[in-house]
Amino acid sequence: MSRIPRPIVDQIREATDIVAVVSKHVRLERKGNTWLGLCPFHQERTPSFNVIPNKAMYYCFGCQAGGDCFRFLMQLEGLSFVEAVKELAQAAGIVIPERELTPEERKALRQRAQWFDAMDEAAAFYESVLWTRPEGEVARKYLEKRGLSPEMAQKARVGFAPSGWSTLFDQLRRMGFDANLLHEVGLVRQRKEGQGYYDTFRDRLLFPIRDEKGRVIAFGGRILEGDGPKYINTPETQFYQKSQVLYGLDLARAGIQQKNRVLVVEGYFDVLSLHQAGFTEAVASCGTALTVEHLEKIRRFTENVIVLLDADAAGTRAAEKVLPLALRAGLQPWRLQLPGAKDPDELIREHGVEAMESALQQKVPLLEWTIDRRLESRGHNAVGRQKTLEELIPDIRDLPASVWSSVASRLHMPESSVVEQIRRYVPPQPPDEGADNEWQEPIPVTHSWRPQRDVVHLIWLLVHHHARVADILHRIDPTFLEDHAPVRSAIARLAAGEPVAALLPEISDAEVAKTLKAVVARAELYTEEQAAVGMCEVLERILAPRRELRLNEQLRRMEEALRTGDLPAHRAAGQEKSQLMAVKKAIKAALQKKDVVAYLAALEADVAQK
Ligand code: CTP
Ligand code: MN
Repeated sequence: MSRIPRPIVDQIREATDIVAVVSKHVRLERKGNTWLGLCPFHQERTPSFNVIPNKAMYYCFGCQAGGDCFRFLMQLEGLSFVEAVKELAQAAGIVIPERELTPEERKALRQRAQWFDAMDEAAAFYESVLWTRPEGEVARKYLEKRGLSPEMAQKARVGFAPSGWSTLFDQLRRMGFDANLLHEVGLVRQRKEGQGYYDTFRDRLLFPIRDEKGRVIAFGGRILEGDGPKYINTPETQFYQKSQVLYGLDLARAGIQQKNRVLVVEGYFDVLSLHQAGFTEAVASCGTALTVEHLEKIRRFTENVIVLLDADAAGTRAAEKVLPLALRAGLQPWRLQLPGAKDPDELIREHGVEAMESALQQKVPLLEWTIDRRLESRGHNAVGRQKTLEELIPDIRDLPASVWSSVASRLHMPESSVVEQIRRYVPPQPPDEGADNEWQEPIPVTHSWRPQRDVVHLIWLLVHHHARVADILHRIDPTFLEDHAPVRSAIARLAAGEPVAALLPEISDAEVAKTLKAVVARAELYTEEQAAVGMCEVLERILAPRRELRLNEQLRRMEEALRTGDLPAHRAAGQEKSQLMAVKKAIKAALQKKDVVAYLAALEADVAQK
C-alpha cells in the first residue's frame, strides 16, 4: 500500500483534467461527452481510445486498456503508482502531507536506507578496484577481450572483487556499517569456525543487480580464472528475490517504452552486449525461468515480450512453460531462436549488429509455434488438431476472443467450434483432501465470474445515472442480485456514491475491474429519463428467474403433499404459491405502466416472503 492517504489521492484525481494529461501524448477529438483518439497502447488505424472526462477515466475498446489519470501515466511512462500520484499532485498544486510514521515504521525505514547504502558503497568499492587499482587489471583485460566498452561497463556499474578475504568487509566497517547488516544484505558470510565474517565475493567480476529504480539490491559474480562455480550470486534477501527481478530493467526502461517491446535473454553479458549494440530493450532473468511476477513487471511497460531461448530440449520446455503465464498476464509472447550462435552476446561479437537485427525478424508468435509443434507430434489430421485444442483450452479459456480466433485459424478449425468447446469446458476439480466420508455432498464447481448482461446494465446505470437509480437499489437485499462477492461489493460501493475511478484501484478481481472500465466507456443504454424504469427492468430480469425457482419449489411441495396426503402442508405451500403469483402479477402491471413506485412496493412484498 502506498503511504499517500486515499482522500489525497482522490483529491488529486478530482483536480486533474484527464483530457489535458492524455492530450500530451495522444491527439484527441471531441465526440459528445467523450474524447476519441488512436490508442497509445496498441497499434490501430481507427480510433478506439476514449477519454471520458466526467468519469475521470480512459478506456480503449481495442485493447481494453483503461483506468484513471494515474493508471494512464503508469501504463504509458512506466511510473509506479506513487510516482504517478506525485507527478500529478505537483501539476495540480496539491501538497502531499507526509503522514507521521510509527516508531516501527521509522526504524524499518532507517534500516532500509542503511541496507541500500551498504549495497551502494559495496558497488562503488568494487568499481574503484576495477578501474583504479592494479588488481583490477585482469578484469579490465577480460572486459576488453569480451568486447565490452568501458562506457557500457561503467553504465552498468560493473566492478571487480579483489582476492583478499575481508577487503570489502574491512572497508565498509571503516565506513561505520554494522557487521550484522553486512551479513544480512549478503555481502559477507559467517565463518564456520570461530567468529567473524569473510567476503562473499573474491576474485570475481561483479555485475550489480539493480531494481527498476536503479538501486543495487544484489550482485552476480563471474569467475575469471581458476576453479569454482562460474557464477556466485547474492543469496535471496528481503529486497532481492530472483523470481521478481529482471537484470537490466533500470537501464532498459526507456528503451522498452520507445520500441514497445522487451527482449528477455539469459545472461548478464547478453544484456550488456545488446545494450551496447543499441538493443536497449534487453533484460535478463537472473539464471531462473521466467515467472508470473517477471511478466507482470514487464507488462507495465509493454505487451510485446520476445523470449530468447535455446533450440535444445531445455529451451523448448522453457518456451512451453512461458506460454500460459504470458497469455494469462495479457502479453503477446514471441519466441526467438538464434541461428549459429549460443547467445546474443556471441552472435553480436562474431556476426555483428546486423546479424542480431535479422535474427529478430525471425521471431515467431509463441502460441503459433506451440500449436505447430504439437501438430507436428500429434499429426495434422482431425484427431491431432482436436487433441491440441483440448490441451490449449485451460490456458486460453480466460483470454479475449481474438486469441481464440487465432487459435482456431492456426488449427484450421471453425471458430464457432473452438468457441463452443471453450464454453463447454469444465475445469477439473481440485482433489478433495478433507474427504473422510463418501456420502459428502459434491462441492459445486465455482467458475470465475463472467460478466452477465443484466448485471453489466445495472452497473452501467449506477455509473452513469447514479442520482436516478441508486435509491431503487437501496430497497432490495443485495444478496438477491449477485453471488460473486467482488461484484456485489462493487455494486454496493457504487450505489453508496463512490466514483468508479476511485473504486477501481482497489478492485483485485481482474474480470470485475475489466467490466467496470468497459462500462464507463460504453455508449448510452438509457437516457436520463428512462434510467429509473430501466433500473426496474434490469432488476426484474435478474430477480425473475429466482422467483420462478421459488414458485416451482412450492408447486413441487404441493404435489408431494398431495401424494402423502399431508393437507396442512399442501395448504401452506398453496398459500405461498398464490402470494408469489400475486407478486408476479403486481410486478408485471407496475412495469407495464412504467410505475417505479408500484414496482418497488411489489418487490418489497416479495422480499418480505423470503
Ligand atoms: N547463472 C548463474 N549461476 C551459474 C550459471 C549461470 O546464476 N552458475 C546465471 C547468470 O545470471 C548468467 C546466466 O545464468 O548470466 C546465463 O548463464 P551463462 O550463459 O552460463 O553465462 P553468461 O552470463 O552468458 O556468461 P558467459 O557469456 O561469460 O559464458
Ligand atoms: Mn554468454
